[in-house]
Amino acid sequence: MLLVTGATGKVGRHVVRNLAGRGIQVRALSRRPGEADLPESVEVVPGSPEDPASVAAALHGVERAFVVLVGDVEAQAAGFAEAARAAGALKHVVLLSSSAVVHPLQHRIRAEHEAAERIVGAAVPSLTVLRPGPFHSNALWWAASIRDEGRVRCLVGDNPGAPVDPADVAGVGVAALSPEHAGRVYELTGPQVLSSADQTRILGELLGRRLDFAVATEEETVAMFTAITGDRGTAEGNVRALRSRRVPWARVRPAVDEVLGRPARPFRDWAAEHLAAYR
Ligand SMILES: NC(=O)c1ccc[n+]([C@@H]2O[C@H](COP(=O)([O-])OP(=O)(O)OC[C@H]3O[C@@H](n4cnc5c(N)ncnc54)[C@H](OP(=O)(O)O)[C@@H]3O)[C@@H](O)[C@H]2O)c1
Repeated sequence: MLLVTGATGKVGRHVVRNLAGRGIQVRALSRRPGEADLPESVEVVPGSPEDPASVAAALHGVERAFVVLVGDVEAQAAGFAEAARAAGALKHVVLLSSSAVVHPLQHRIRAEHEAAERIVGAAVPSLTVLRPGPFHSNALWWAASIRDEGRVRCLVGDNPGAPVDPADVAGVGVAALSPEHAGRVYELTGPQVLSSADQTRILGELLGRRLDFAVATEEETVAMFTAITGDRGTAEGNVRALRSRRVPWARVRPAVDEVLGRPARPFRDWAAEHLAAYR
């Protein structure tokens, strides 16, 4: 039995479908199992890494896990580690981390994923770490303003980056569940360096529509992040790092191609498949 947390999310859903399609027995953890909409063969159990007791119950008889932590990542890693130690059967974990871990600026996103890698790594016999940069699907943040106003107001600046398809992150994750990937750390990007303005242009070309692009001020972004977390200091640090010219995901990395044996999927392909969200 293989456990997937974050199973209904952008990466987790692809992981579950991929494994179920190969006939592998999967247990999926979700806060809302009734709405999970996962393949029939998948055992969907209630819970979340926020609730270590639910993880402990879900780990019964599980030897491998694909772990996604969302929210208080560090606390969830601690809860997962405790449950893994108690369950005892877990042999190998693939952890979805972030390339924020190798960002030169210290900030909360980096700190929490660093902690999660360390904490989960200490609790299981074997770990593979995935460190993706920004996902193609982050462009869904712009869907409403593109639909309603034909414009993008970008919160994270306009730095170049090489966004990665969440389906490719999942593909690497599924491959990494095999023992030969034990101990490996994969930095994952897409195949092209693009700015947010480039991504907006591609969306406009596919939609056959001229889209306006503007970058939100740093203060506007900090205020928006603060409204979500209630912590202005953390928001300032995260925004400074995300808008820095030194983001580590601005270089194309070979790991997706190497692990999957085919080229990483470009943003244009992802966008073409998700145009309905922008119409
Ligand atoms: N987005 C990016 O560009 C990016 C880049 C690098 C790394 N990452 C990392 O990848 C991981 C997944 O991020 P994501 O944005 O893609 O997640 P996501 O797919 O939106 O979320 C995965 C699942 O987690 C559950 N969930 C959502 N919010 C939660 C919360 N506050 N507490 C507990 N469970 C929650 C939901 O499942 P249920 O409702 O079914 O429980 C959701 O389907 C995170 O650790 C993130 O830091 C993201």
